Amino acid sequence: MIDDITAAKDAALAEVERADSLDAIVALEPRLLGKKGSLGSLKAQLGSLSSVDDKKVAGQALNEATQAVESALSARRDSLGDAALAALVAHERLDLTESAGRPTRGHAHLVTQAWERLEDVFIGLGFQVAEGPEVETDWHNFEALNMGEGHPARGEFDTLFVDYAPPGGTAGRTVLRTHTSPVQIRTMLTAEPPIYIVAPGRVFRRDTPDATHMPVFHQIEGLVVDRHITLADLAGTIEAFTKAFFGPGFTSRLRPSYFPFTEPSAEFDIQRPDGSWLELGGCGMVHPNVLRAGGIDPDEWSGFAFGFGIDRMAVMRHQVADLRDMYADDLRFAEQF
Ligand code: DAH
Repeated sequence: MIDDITAAKDAALAEVERADSLDAIVALEPRLLGKKGSLGSLKAQLGSLSSVDDKKVAGQALNEATQAVESALSARRDSLGDAALAALVAHERLDLTESAGRPTRGHAHLVTQAWERLEDVFIGLGFQVAEGPEVETDWHNFEALNMGEGHPARGEFDTLFVDYAPPGGTAGRTVLRTHTSPVQIRTMLTAEPPIYIVAPGRVFRRDTPDATHMPVFHQIEGLVVDRHITLADLAGTIEAFTKAFFGPGFTSRLRPSYFPFTEPSAEFDIQRPDGSWLELGGCGMVHPNVLRAGGIDPDEWSGFAFGFGIDRMAVMRHQVADLRDMYADDLRFAEQF
């Protein structure tokens, strides 16, 4: 019987040695140590031994064999566990020094780039940068810009209304500004002429996004108020800006148009070196009613204003086919620039 016990133990130990995964160990355990295993069935035969001494010796040998198999299983389980953990750690390892020496550099959003370049060019022409709130009163956004209640031009702005009253505003008559022109009013009310400002900023209109429209977009407004300002100053400024921003091969023209806040009003286009024209924005001489709303005497001062879209400048410059791509936050798009 002792020989059988030794043989069963050796066979069991060899099986433990061959187990190559934690799953295999788990499956092996009941088979080697259970009642139906070879050691288990030898234990069942103990009762049939006639001599007490033989029983004692065989029982002891069986206990030792069982313990040997148990400790072999647990040692094997530990070492397979360590190996599995090591493999997991190696697999999930993150090399945080990976980019050392090769830092990746991002860049500003295309609209931010255009916005900052526009500011640079106008600062170079002697302008200061002004700003105003995005949540605006009806008065600043429309009324003070010569668009009183019921003015048909209001209909051209697909206005988003806000259910909130800002300081000095009235609930239900508060809007997300539809253009940067209210900054003209805010600047005139707080600064003494001469005024030479540009006001870039975010504007809002009730529009369904498509390739050329977004409900949130950007404009830059310009306002000059000084003595003896004429249409020639406006045309000259637009021309100087065109050459500084687009390049010496570009030129500009004004086309008669209508805006309630300027009189006369014009649209301005730029001509590319290939001769083609591109519509850029609106401009004109500041309407006397607008100067008065800004607390400025139109008999003493005159001025011009202009406004145009920034997003379009970025789209043009980089030949982006769909405006929505600019706001999708897709790295595959952003990394092209
Ligand atoms: N506010 C106008 C718009 O959003 C653009 C504009 C036109 C601004 C003429 C001006 C201007 O300052 O003089 O459509």
